[in-house]
Amino acid sequence: MSVGRDRFGVVVVGAGDMGARHARWWAATGAEVVAVADPDPVRAQALAEAHGALALPDPGDAFARDDVDAVSVCTPTYLHRGFVVAALNAGKHVLCEKPVALTGADAEAMRAAAERSSGVLRIGFMRRFDPADATLAGYVRELGRPILAQATITAGVRPKRLMHDANANGGPLIDMCCHVFDQWERYFGGPPELVRASGHTFARGKPGVAGIEELAVDSAQVTLRYPGGDEGHVLVSWGLPSGVPATEQHTYLGPDGRVASAWPDDVQLQRGGEALRWLPPPADPWREEIAAFRRELAGLEPRRLADIDEGIRALRTSLAALVSIAEGREVGLSEFGPPPGGAEPEAS
Ligand SMILES: NC(=O)c1ccc[n+]([C@@H]2O[C@H](COP(=O)([O-])OP(=O)(O)OC[C@H]3O[C@@H](n4cnc5c(N)ncnc54)[C@H](O)[C@@H]3O)[C@@H](O)[C@H]2O)c1
Repeated sequence: MSVGRDRFGVVVVGAGDMGARHARWWAATGAEVVAVADPDPVRAQALAEAHGALALPDPGDAFARDDVDAVSVCTPTYLHRGFVVAALNAGKHVLCEKPVALTGADAEAMRAAAERSSGVLRIGFMRRFDPADATLAGYVRELGRPILAQATITAGVRPKRLMHDANANGGPLIDMCCHVFDQWERYFGGPPELVRASGHTFARGKPGVAGIEELAVDSAQVTLRYPGGDEGHVLVSWGLPSGVPATEQHTYLGPDGRVASAWPDDVQLQRGGEALRWLPPPADPWREEIAAFRRELAGLEPRRLADIDEGIRALRTSLAALVSIAEGREVGLSEFGPPPGGAEPEAS
């Protein structure tokens, strides 16, 4: 690890959109991108060249190198487990993109590897570093309790096929809603107790998803009951005709007012005659996330990134919604066992 030298080396696994962001923002912290691994040689080469790094088809022995301190895992979700466990077994710190995994078994294997490792595992719920998040959380706290929350997330069929593949990125209930589940756990003080959902696959038969063996549920309504009486409702679709723009709207109602957000660009609080509107400055939350991780690793500030237990709790909520859809019943989160790490998230 970096004891005894100032350099901080990183391997980025997956040279797609997230890999490029991770490499850029690691470099912005002064870290050296040592290697980029991707079986797509064009992508691996392009990203490696941009950072003066080695381009590799797979990480091979790179995790074991003495000049590597951390690994960013930015592959499709079904591959997270293998790379995260290998990097932790090599004693490296790991930033794994959200969602943590597709299955509870994969996520638990990652947690077990983190417990054995001297490396630190964090999950990339970068919304925690979006300027809108703290404002939204603060406005929601002004509403009194209980809160009735609604998030509406709509988009045309996604351009990346893996996002529609139940066995790759898992569809929006896993891939997208994990963000909202992480937000609501923090806003409401714990994970939900009960989930009821119904869902469909609107993309079926549309261009762009032909040949996917198991199409994910892409359109759903999910109702979540939180301890203390807060309730959330998510209306989500990634299966609309392509060209329908991606939008996300949040509404929160409480005894003392209403909060609305066109996430992440606009947050408004209406309380009696008082109206507050906050337009966040432009920001790339991945930049602050990675900078915060480096500061945490250097012992300069406490943890702000999600840990594996928080990642697993968001995944359990997604899996509960999928069970509810499949079995047509309300699902208690207790069916998945006690929540890992207890139910107490850090305050936003
Ligand atoms: N934080 C967010 O809001 C956010 C946004 C988008 C994606 N993501 C997550 O990031 C991850 C990657 O998504 P993306 O949008 O960058 O996807 P992408 O398709 O742009 O990139 C994925 C890359 O992984 C590579 N890859 C595939 N198999 C590999 C292997 N065995 N070894 C190394 N690389 C491999 C692909 O060739 C591709 O270049 C997913 O888990 C996704 O859910 C998070």
